[in-house]
Amino acid sequence: MQHIISPSILSADFMNLQSEIEFLNNSPADWIHIDVMDGVFVPNLTFGFPIIKQIKQHANKVMDVHLMITQPERYIADFKEAGADVLTVHYEACTHLHRTIQSIKANGMKAGVSLVPHSPVNLLEDIIEELDLVLIMSVNPGFGGQAFIENSYKKIRQTAELIKASNSKSLIEVDGGVNDKNAAELVDAGANVLVAGNFVFKAENPNEQIVKLLNANKNTIA
Ligand code: DX5
Ligand code: ZN
Repeated sequence: MQHIISPSILSADFMNLQSEIEFLNNSPADWIHIDVMDGVFVPNLTFGFPIIKQIKQHANKVMDVHLMITQPERYIADFKEAGADVLTVHYEACTHLHRTIQSIKANGMKAGVSLVPHSPVNLLEDIIEELDLVLIMSVNPGFGGQAFIENSYKKIRQTAELIKASNSKSLIEVDGGVNDKNAAELVDAGANVLVAGNFVFKAENPNEQIVKLLNANKNTIA
């Protein structure tokens, strides 16, 4: 499949959020990545339901919501109501992950699980068949603009193998420090969805950046 680009609005201009969303609507990105942080699971705070609802009113893309919060099971129905299409929770934040995944699906959303850089892929062995998405964090979650962790390529390859060895139809998403230098290799390793914050929104021509990520494939590895 052609890989998908999911620009992270964490790096957008919040004073002009409507025009940022309109820019994404007119861009070749298919998803919008929305980072929710609670100041407990990660050392940062972002936004909650009112902002997500307003984004939903303007966006015509898939709402890809990444929860960096403890006990995300408390808010699953609320995220559905706010407009999430894909809801990703952290393995490290869920005591009863299987139940949480079932609940996300029962609420009509695609279910994702994310691993922080120190969590090995084999933790997903007994849940992989239930998942619609695995999100490999290629930085420690909490902030945009951090440097990509090289070990992530290996984790993406291992996730691809795990999916292949099971009946899973899960997509693989990668988040953190993605740019035009590593995109091709990430896709080659098996990534289906590339999240990018700073690389897109801090550039002079954000649309061009999305196109660069979209065109990244094996042949463009330098
Ligand atoms: C970090 C967030 C990322 C972040 C990525 O915790 O999950 O989605 O916005 O930003 P960049 O692409 O700048 O690393
Ligand atoms: Zn994210």
